[in-house]
Amino acid sequence: MERRSAARTALVGFIGVLALALVADPVAAQQGFDSTTEELIRTLNDKLLIVALPITVLVEGILLYTVYRFRNNEEPKPTEENRRLEITWTVATAIVLVFVGVASYGVLAQPDVTTTRAMIDDKPSDAVEVKITGYQWYWNVEYAGENVSIEQARTIYLPTDRPVYLNVTAGDVIHAIHVPGLGLKQDAIPGQHNVIRTRITSTGEYQLYCAEYCGAGHSKMLATVEVVSPGEFETWLEEQRGG
Ligand code: CUA
Repeated sequence: MERRSAARTALVGFIGVLALALVADPVAAQQGFDSTTEELIRTLNDKLLIVALPITVLVEGILLYTVYRFRNNEEPKPTEENRRLEITWTVATAIVLVFVGVASYGVLAQPDVTTTRAMIDDKPSDAVEVKITGYQWYWNVEYAGENVSIEQARTIYLPTDRPVYLNVTAGDVIHAIHVPGLGLKQDAIPGQHNVIRTRITSTGEYQLYCAEYCGAGHSKMLATVEVVSPGEFETWLEEQRGG
């Protein structure tokens, strides 16, 4: 009888925490996202967190309860053969795994998260293609079709509200571009072109890191991504051509 009421308390607690987490979610969702890629990844992260929190509370709750309940038990009897319990936890685990799999695949399959090489050939006419090549220890940047290229770039200019395709490669060893503020990460591998597509929604400065250990200068292999309005971007391109 006591065990059953404890199970009921745990279930009520579980549902309570789940409800709280769902109520708390709109607060997180109100925070602005700086790119479509960041929005996809962070929304998935929030969803997984909402599911993980009540499960953590439930499991830890059962653990604490068990430790307390059987603290003076000198001869504990393990549960042997309980088909209903085994079916319950197998089905519950399967449901959680299917949810994680479906939710993750839904994001992973998005072109702004996993961009294929072919997509760059079918890009819309207003797209900006930037070829970024990593070297020990700097980035060379080339704006495709614009006749603008910058060697050892300290700042990489990108526009808001236009599809941006970063075509990433390396000239010597493996590097990786990582712009956490925009949710962008892509390996830079010699002889290989990895593409990441996004659309940036707010102007500002974002830090770009090299995210693959590439030698003594790895930690200084930085750049600033300067995101400006489409108009300012065109003006900047003109200036580069003029100079
Ligand atoms: Cu380039 Cu680390």
